Amino acid sequence: MRRTVPVRLGDRSYEVVVGPGVRNSLAEVVRRLGAERAVVVSARPDEWVPDTGVETLLLPARDGEQGKTLATVEALCGEFVRFGLTRSDVVVSCGGGTTTDVVGLAAALYHRGVDVIHLPTSLLAQVDASVGGKTAVNLREGKNLVGAFWQPRAVLCDTDYLSTLPAREMLSGLGEIARCHFIGAGDLRGLPLTEQIAASVTLKAGIVEVDERDAGKRHLLNYGHTLGHALELATGFALRHGEAVAVGTVFAGRLAHALGRVDRSRADEHLAVVRHYGLPTALPAEVDPELLVRQMHRDKKAVSGLGFVLDGPEGAQLVTDVPQEVVFRVLAGMPRAPMDSLVGAATPDAVLT
Ligand SMILES: NC(=O)c1ccc[n+]([C@@H]2O[C@H](COP(=O)([O-])OP(=O)(O)OC[C@H]3O[C@@H](n4cnc5c(N)ncnc54)[C@H](O)[C@@H]3O)[C@@H](O)[C@H]2O)c1
Repeated sequence: MRRTVPVRLGDRSYEVVVGPGVRNSLAEVVRRLGAERAVVVSARPDEWVPDTGVETLLLPARDGEQGKTLATVEALCGEFVRFGLTRSDVVVSCGGGTTTDVVGLAAALYHRGVDVIHLPTSLLAQVDASVGGKTAVNLREGKNLVGAFWQPRAVLCDTDYLSTLPAREMLSGLGEIARCHFIGAGDLRGLPLTEQIAASVTLKAGIVEVDERDAGKRHLLNYGHTLGHALELATGFALRHGEAVAVGTVFAGRLAHALGRVDRSRADEHLAVVRHYGLPTALPAEVDPELLVRQMHRDKKAVSGLGFVLDGPEGAQLVTDVPQEVVFRVLAGMPRAPMDSLVGAATPDAVLT
């Protein structure tokens, strides 16, 4: 089963192909681009890197936030120069979202922009990070502070890569799929994974097509993320991104209900969907709500008071100036569970696919 999702952005349009074995169409994509040389930056073992069909430099990489730096971008660009990569050649990333982000930025900057193809290997990178053209690296001062919009020329989401993905990383990606239920993808529960990925990518593509540069509608993709980001920080990243977003999604349902935007059953649906994907639904007992609210005031959507993307009569919307006392009340009403029990349910090395 293979699904192709177009991302329609005029002369920056491309396709996202999803399914088992789709990485093997890399040589065909490279041929269509007319590149004569390729640099493949890969965080996966060599045997997982497909043939490019052209002269290739294979650079080993490691996924992880530590490598998402300007120093890595500089090192990669140095390798591109020594290999003789020209502006009409191509760069290929193969790895998790950290790798697609840093390689995407190197491609955006090298010779003021060279074609890049992403082969995302984590579920989160397949449903989110590799699609939409945002690239970034971290500074000591914070995450994703330096970046560029640079659309890939193609994205090949090979679901075979997920066979080696640790269970908690799988869950993290499922957190992003779960929140799609409330921002226009409909009910994806029970669909095969390829369909769930393709539907999540279709949703993101539709949003990126109308707001490529994150000036409005792209906010919707941050459903569950206001509390999610605060939870990641408050737990020292003990919760993976998608796990934190899952708890944030349950909270978003309850907050929308507390503000009279949705009825009780729609709020309960948030819990049911998040639970269906096997994701955490409770706040870590160890986390202080005061700290969460302080963090949420720093959220980039908090231009005017506390800001959340919330479901409502006209679907999900950015809601600003949410009264702090309501946020505290909804936080206080959330179920709580010790951190260990929230993330302990998954066996880190188990394979879910
Ligand atoms: N650019 C965007 O629009 C966008 C959107 C969402 C997230 N992101 C970024 O994506 C990053 C998170 O991505 P992530 O969750 O993939 O993190 P990651 O790249 O750190 O990968 C998570 C873990 O999974 C492992 N892994 C990945 N693929 C594997 C495979 N096939 N087999 C075995 N192990 C594998 C990695 O080695 C790593 O340990 C963050 O830096 C975030 O800022 C970017």
